[in-house]
Amino acid sequence: MVKNIKSFSDPIIPYTFNGVYPLSDDTYLILDYFKKNVNENFFDELPITTIRKILDMGTGTGIIALFLQEIKKYLSKFTTKIFASDISDAAIRCATLNERSNNYKDNITFIKSNLFRKFPPSLQHSFDIIIFNPPYLPSISRKENNLIRRRNDSNWDGGERGFEVFIEFINQVKDFLNTKQKFYIYYISSSSTDLSQLNDELETRGFQNRILNTSHVFFEDIILNRLEEL
Ligand SMILES: C[S@@+](CC[C@H](N)C(=O)[O-])C[C@H]1O[C@@H](n2cnc3c(N)ncnc32)[C@H](O)[C@@H]1O
Repeated sequence: MVKNIKSFSDPIIPYTFNGVYPLSDDTYLILDYFKKNVNENFFDELPITTIRKILDMGTGTGIIALFLQEIKKYLSKFTTKIFASDISDAAIRCATLNERSNNYKDNITFIKSNLFRKFPPSLQHSFDIIIFNPPYLPSISRKENNLIRRRNDSNWDGGERGFEVFIEFINQVKDFLNTKQKFYIYYISSSSTDLSQLNDELETRGFQNRILNTSHVFFEDIILNRLEEL
């Protein structure tokens, strides 16, 4: 019988530091998709035994990396090594403490880095799956008393159009993907940005986008996407 992970318990996240992105609807859009689409033989549509390394970019509290580490307990063929990175010192500290609280000391490799800048050369061409819930809102948020306020926050501020950070990630990512086999990149986008422009930019860079799920939150739709090679 094929087991899926719907009923598996979520990791515990006792540490939520000030300034570290709290568990949110977008976080759960990703986790809920994996709950429905990972089983003992397949990670989504990839054979589970072929996945050697997964990266959780912009890990925040570490929830996604910890969730993946958690499902390794239940799926014996899922022996992948989990990596998690973030630009924020506080996020790396918070995620490391959460890892310890789940008794996974030193199972996840944490890397403090602005995108891939501090990644060692040994990790080039190695990731089979990368997950990035990036800052995805446009910098200029609203006009107050004729002053334009900027979201000066790496949790939210995706750049002027809302996807500059993500496009910079895409510009760097090919050096770190294992392109010898099929790879997937999962990411979140928002309807408050120009999605057709984002899609054009992704296609120009050789990626094909598939929408996996959406959720309406306050003023926008948040979208879970999956990229693969065009
Ligand atoms: C929307 S939060 C997602 C947090 C967590 N993955 C989740 O889903 O709950 C975005 C995360 O990306 C990180 N981040 C922003 N810019 C980054 C960059 N240039 N390099 C690495 N991480 C970055 C932020 O510090 C933040 O933790």
